[in-house]
Amino acid sequence: LLPERATRVRDLIVDVPDFPSPGILFKDITPLLADAEGLADVVEAFTKLALADGVDVVAGMEARGFLLGTPVAHALGLGFLPLRKAGKLPPPTESVSYDLEYGSATIELRSGTLTPGARVLIIDDVLATGGTAAAAAQLVEQCGGVVAGLAFLLELEALHGRDRLQGHNVDTLLRVG
Ligand code: PRP
Repeated sequence: LLPERATRVRDLIVDVPDFPSPGILFKDITPLLADAEGLADVVEAFTKLALADGVDVVAGMEARGFLLGTPVAHALGLGFLPLRKAGKLPPPTESVSYDLEYGSATIELRSGTLTPGARVLIIDDVLATGGTAAAAAQLVEQCGGVVAGLAFLLELEALHGRDRLQGHNVDTLLRVG
């Protein structure tokens, strides 16, 4: 993102304290999605990253990774792979489980939708602890794909999610401390 564009996009992401639970500062991208120029700027920036990484298909995490990843795939003339939360896709699926602060979560990809050897760009809105992204990368590799890169709208640097993605090409359009 060009500096003046980055400032505008940043202003369209709203901090919501204590959501969805006390102590959590939620980053709400709804105003950004609603803004034609902001959405176009973000999709264009992701598209440039994809071209640099040499990508065959785009994947995105439920739910906001769907909203950003699908228009990027379309802009590139590529397909899109939804990485869904457990129980949403019909079988057969491939899955990866990962630990959360309390409990665990599972993400799934529909078997047969990822062509073995395909170079995949994984897109999501926020890189926080990196747990979701690391599981997504593992799932792509488990299905025979190559992780060309992971791209995020916003990186929460204080949570060091990037450390869990070592060995991968990680790009973030905006960063906050
Ligand atoms: C958020 C965000 C990322 C993930 C980042 O999704 O959109 O997918 O958390 O967190 P992490 O780096 O600590 O794993 P959320 O779980 O809120 O799901 P949703 O988009 O379906 O609301």
